[in-house]
Order: sequence, then structure tokens, then C-alpha cells
Amino acid sequence: MSGSPIFWLPAASTEGARTDHLFFLLCGISTLIVLLVLTLIVTFAIRYRHGSAAPRGRLPEFFRSEFEIGWTAATAFLFLFIFWWASAAQLAGYAPPPDAIEMHVTAKQWMFKTQQPNGAREINQLHMPVDTPVRLVMTSQDVIHSFWVPAFRFKRDILPGRVTQGWFQATRTGTFHLFCAEYCGTDHSEMGGEVIVMPKADYAAWTAAQPEGDDLGKAGGKLFVKMGCAGCHAGSNAVHAPNLAGLWGRTIPLADGSSVEVDERYVRDSILQPRREIAAGYEPIMPSFQGVASEADLTRLVAYIRSLATGEDAGQ
Ligand code: CUA
Repeated sequence: MSGSPIFWLPAASTEGARTDHLFFLLCGISTLIVLLVLTLIVTFAIRYRHGSAAPRGRLPEFFRSEFEIGWTAATAFLFLFIFWWASAAQLAGYAPPPDAIEMHVTAKQWMFKTQQPNGAREINQLHMPVDTPVRLVMTSQDVIHSFWVPAFRFKRDILPGRVTQGWFQATRTGTFHLFCAEYCGTDHSEMGGEVIVMPKADYAAWTAAQPEGDDLGKAGGKLFVKMGCAGCHAGSNAVHAPNLAGLWGRTIPLADGSSVEVDERYVRDSILQPRREIAAGYEPIMPSFQGVASEADLTRLVAYIRSLATGEDAGQ
């Protein structure tokens, strides 16, 4: 859908197109129903006005049974169809394609700190290539914020103590507004920035020109040693703790008989609340790092543990 940006902001992402279709479908159906009801009200008001000769006896049998069942079933199916369409459009926004590039967002009062896959950092800006799926991994340092890019029809809350994810694929190059869409304190209205969508070649050149940021995984590796994780989790050790090499992405059994996939959520929770989901065969001896590891630390540690998935770079 294009149109004047004053009345209609054209969608600039694949999710945007899906959302717009749904919006217009719902508007269309609602308009038809409103017109139908209005027409019936006016028609009956005239037909059955005071003193008119219109028949006022019992309705024919057809209108009392078949007709009633028919329109009830029809509206039920219509609503089921809308539900199916809307949830399909929403759920698609939660399942990133496997080749999506990953960017990190840390929100705080009152800014968005972003980090590119190569470690380059930005504040209130996010550069990305066009026609490429981008997965956002987001967390907050303080209160609830929300990452909103209207042109992408993308809005996702960012919560303290939790990782939220979302993905989109920009379909046009340009600079798009980014807003915080959750009231988060005095300067909430000032919290925002821009998303800059570039042609792929330009993005590659831009990335190469950025100051060499600390690669997340490498920085995490240093933290892993500094915070003492390596003391128990390194391969040859007296303390019985899981070796983390090759663990990422696997589904592991837990002590309570259930199982869990080793992903961002699990690793993060294991660092903060190590006694909640104990891996089968291990004692609950790990201390919590709640209040010790900052949000930025957690992001790095998780990146490091993920980098061990392939088994490379295991010893620091
Ligand atoms: Cu952050 Cu509103």
C-alpha cells in the first residue's frame, strides 16, 4: 500500500506488508457489517413506522430456524477465519529464518544501545542491510521499554531481566524512525532514534569502516575467566560442573525428568537462577550471578557459550 506519508506511512518490511493486509481486511469487513446493520435499521424504521400497514404477525418458520442457524454459522466462520489470519501474521513475526543476522539491543533510561554482529556499537541508531532478515535480541537495564519502528510495523517490549526477540526484513532502503513505545520515565518522549537501511554493498562498506568493536564472543570469553566461571566449567576440573563446549542448541535432560533446549533463555536463566533448572547428573552447587553480571555481561557470556557450540575456541 502506498500513499501520502501524511495519511499513510508506507510499509518498509515484509512484516509491514502482512500487517497492512490484515488491517485493510479488518477495516473492509467492519465497513461491510456497519453498512449492513445501518441499512437494516433504516429499512425497518421506515417499514415498521407508526401506522404503517406492514404485517406484524409471527415470522415464517424459515426465519426462525434455518435463517438463524445460517447467519450464526456464517459469522462464526468469519471470525475463525480472521483469528487464523491474524495469528498466522503475528506468529510469523516470532519465527526468524535461520539465516537471519543477529543484532543486540540494550535499552536503558533513555536510549537504545545497539550492537552489530561484528561487535560495532551504536547509540540510538541501527544500521542494517536491505532484503536481509535481521533478528533482534533485546534486553533492558532498568525498566520496561519498547522497540517500535512504525514503518516496519514492528513493536516489541524490552524487559529487564529477560531476553525478548523479534525479527524483520526491510524491503526498502532509507532512514526510519525508531521510538520507545512504553512509558519509561521523564524522558520517555525523547527516547528514540533511527534505523538506517542500506543497500547490501553499502552496509558491508559501512561495517568495515566501524571501529573494531570487541567481538561479543571474545569479550564473553574474557569475562568467563574473570568472573570465575572457567574455574568449574573448564574441561579438566575437580569440581563437577558441565563442560559447555558443544552444548549450545542441544536438548538436554534436567534433574526433574524434563528436558530443555540450550538457548539464550536457558543459559541466561542458568547464570542468574542456577538452581531452577538443574542439568541431570549434576549437583546444584553453582552460585547465582544475579546482581554480579550486568545485562551487557550476560549478553557477552551467552555469546561466548554459543561460540563454543562448534567446539572451537574452548580454552581461554
Ligand atoms: Cu524507554 Cu519509553
